[in-house]
Amino acid sequence: MFYLKYRPKKIEEIDNERVKDIVKNILKEKTPPHALLFIGQKGTGKTSTARIFAKAVNCQENKFNKKNSSAIEPCGKCSNCAMIDNSTSPDVVEMDAASNRGIEDIKKLIKEAAFFPMNTKYRVFIIDEAHMITTDAFNALLKTLEEPPSSVIFILATTNLEKIPKTIVSRCSIVNFGKAKKSDIIDMLNRIAKGENLKTDEKLFSLIATQADKSFRDAAKSYEELVIQNKLNYEDAKNFLGVARNDFWEVIKNRNLAKTLAWIKDFSGNGGNVKNLIEELLEELHVSLLATNGVSIEVEESIKLNKTEIVLLLKLLSEAYQNLRYSPIESLPLELAIVEFYNKSKPN
Ligand SMILES: Nc1ncnc2c1ncn2[C@@H]1O[C@H](COP(=O)(O)OP(=O)(O)O)[C@@H](O)[C@H]1O
Ligand SMILES: [Mg+2]
Ligand SMILES: [Zn+2]
Repeated sequence: MFYLKYRPKKIEEIDNERVKDIVKNILKEKTPPHALLFIGQKGTGKTSTARIFAKAVNCQENKFNKKNSSAIEPCGKCSNCAMIDNSTSPDVVEMDAASNRGIEDIKKLIKEAAFFPMNTKYRVFIIDEAHMITTDAFNALLKTLEEPPSSVIFILATTNLEKIPKTIVSRCSIVNFGKAKKSDIIDMLNRIAKGENLKTDEKLFSLIATQADKSFRDAAKSYEELVIQNKLNYEDAKNFLGVARNDFWEVIKNRNLAKTLAWIKDFSGNGGNVKNLIEELLEELHVSLLATNGVSIEVEESIKLNKTEIVLLLKLLSEAYQNLRYSPIESLPLELAIVEFYNKSKPN
C-alpha cells in the first residue's frame, strides 16, 4: 500500500517542511531531549517521525555514535537502523495508549525504562494517542519525566493537546505537526509517482491534495485508489473522489432547474456515477439531519438547507436510489427527484 510503502524513513523524506526543520534542529543539539510531545491531526507523520527520530539517535553511522561525524540522518543500513525499520529492536518500544492507558501499563513502561538499552544508545518509548492516558497514570509518568534515566527518550504523540496535563506538556519539547499543507502533500505525491514510475500530474495532485482533509495518509490512499481504478485523468478522478457532490450543493443552492439538469447531464456525460453520487449526498444529508436535531456531529458546511428541506431531499433521494435499478436512463431518477424537490420546497 502506498501509504505504508512510502512512509518516510529518513529525515529528508519527511514532506512536512516545517516539521523536517524542527526535527533537524533538535538533532543538531549536543544531546537529544528526553521527552518530546508530537501534536497534530491524524496522518500528519507523527508515528513516522517518531521512528525516524529513534533511528537517528541510535544509528551507528551518524554523529550519535561516530566521533568525527556531524551527520544527523540515520543511515538506514546499519543493524540498529535495520532493526528499528523492521520493528524488531528491543530498544524501541511502541505503545498505543488507546488500549494501554492505565496506571499498571504505565508502571510497566517506567520499570522497563530503568534498564539500559541492549543494542543501542537510547531506549525510545513511543506512546501513541497519549491523551488517552488516565490521570493516575500521567502522574506516575510525570515523576519519570522529571528525572528521566539518561538513556531514555519518551515520545508522546497526540491529536489532542487539551487532554494532556500542563505538567506533562511543560516537561516536553513540543513539535507541532499541525495539518498537512497542500504543497507538502503534493511533494509526497510526486515522491510516490517517482517511486512507482507513474506520470506526475500537478493538476491531478492538486485535486487529490485538496480532497485529502489535510492528511498525508488520506492523500496517499486516494492516489492509490485512483491508480488501481485507472482514474488518473482529471475528470475521472474528480468524479471518483466525490468532488462532484460539492459542485452539486453549489448548483442546487440557486434553485435553477435548467442549470441543475444541465449539471447532472454534464456529470453523467463525463462518466460520473449517479449511484455513487446519490450515496454520497444521502450520507451528507444524514449527517446534517442528525446535526440539526441536536446530535452533535461536525456539519458539512457545503449543505445550505433548512431542516424541512433536508428531510424532503433525504426522502426524494432515497426514492431515487431505489428506482435506479429499474430506470432505463441512469440519470432520470435523480432528475425527477430534483424537479420534485424544487416544486415542493418553493417558499410560497
Ligand atoms: N511528513 C510526511 N511526509 C510524507 N508522508 C507522510 C508524512 N506524514 C505522513 N505521511 C504518510 O501518511 C502515513 C501515516 O503517517 P503517520 O506517521 O502514521 O501519521 P500519524 O501518526 O500522524 O497519524 C505514512 O505512512 C505516510 O504514507
Ligand atoms: Mg500515528
Ligand atoms: Zn544506521
